Amino acid sequence: MAFGWIDEQAELRRRAGLRRSLRPRPADSPLLDLAGNDYLGLARHPEVTEGAALAARTWGAGATGSRLVSGTTELHAELERELAAFCGFEAALVFSSGYAANLAAVTALAPHGSLLVSDAGNHASLIDGCRLARGTTQVVAHADPEAVRKALGTYDGPAVAVCDTVFSVDGDAAPLPALARVCREHGAGLVVDDAHGFGVLGDGGRGAAHAAGLAGADDVVVTLTLSKSLGSQGGAVLGPARVIDHLVNAARTFIFDTGLAPAAAGAALAALRLLGREPQRAARARAVAARLHAGLTAAGLQAVRPDAAVVSVRAPSPEAAVRWAARCRAAGLAVGCFRPPSVPDGISRLRLTARADLSGEQIDHAVRVIGGSRPAAGETRP
Ligand SMILES: Cc1ncc(COP(=O)(O)O)c(C=O)c1O
Repeated sequence: MAFGWIDEQAELRRRAGLRRSLRPRPADSPLLDLAGNDYLGLARHPEVTEGAALAARTWGAGATGSRLVSGTTELHAELERELAAFCGFEAALVFSSGYAANLAAVTALAPHGSLLVSDAGNHASLIDGCRLARGTTQVVAHADPEAVRKALGTYDGPAVAVCDTVFSVDGDAAPLPALARVCREHGAGLVVDDAHGFGVLGDGGRGAAHAAGLAGADDVVVTLTLSKSLGSQGGAVLGPARVIDHLVNAARTFIFDTGLAPAAAGAALAALRLLGREPQRAARARAVAARLHAGLTAAGLQAVRPDAAVVSVRAPSPEAAVRWAARCRAAGLAVGCFRPPSVPDGISRLRLTARADLSGEQIDHAVRVIGGSRPAAGETRP
């Protein structure tokens, strides 16, 4: 039977407690949301939604084609100029998603005969970029500049190291200054995905590369998503103008993909301007994360100390994680539930987002709900 193997895979997944399914989400959910990535609380900010509406009315619902075919709107150009200036880079290019931005940067900067050095904790989009690139990939130990040095030392062709700035599962930060030093010693490029750092780390949310003193460096390229701190949708690559020009000419997810939708560009631009005016949102997201972590730890839970706004709590098994998240939801709290294959070490977690707009009372309430619904001792399987 065609696709017969799908049923076998589904059964294996079900037995391992790894089946995923979609849940409806009402427009006006009564749940306190610690699951989404709206770090600065901007996705529903009136200025941001108005930015989307105005852009759609002005430029249309869609970009109508690849920007190389349909042309580039002033809106896209403005967003790219302002993103690059805000983060301290020479130029920027926006994409229809952060995923597409990562595929673009990694594949276009790792030609045939090159070496890619990829952190074992990298996001799926960086991993897929490495898989699609023409170069050879070496996966190295997580957050380990010495491992990167060793990998680069085995090679004398063009090379690039690739990693998240803040890892999406545990919320820990990469050692960017040490990684940049190692790359420079070997004349290698450094591509960092600032999906979870942009808007949260660095001066007023200018991102992890800015915080590490790497903004504007000619050997550093930053990718980011517009869908987390900016509350919109889409992605971007920031770097030297010659790199950005190369992407326009060589990145398949730019050339063969419809440009970023005007509404998404308009919302992202409005959110970026708002962040420029309200830089305290970034520090607030970090403070919320710290309070959440302190509360969870005091409640005896195994929470990883957050370097940005992702707070991760370990669960004893995938099934226990699913039930824990369901109990939280029944108590009015939406939390993320990460299970294999979304966790590199096979350990399931609840993943919480520290939003800048959460009050102290809401944080403490969330801690009480999560602590009060924790798995019972020995609760692993159904
Ligand atoms: C680290 C990281 N990079 C890239 C992405 C992809 O970004 P987007 O959702 O805009 O495609 C995500 C998640 O969404 C992410 O967590």
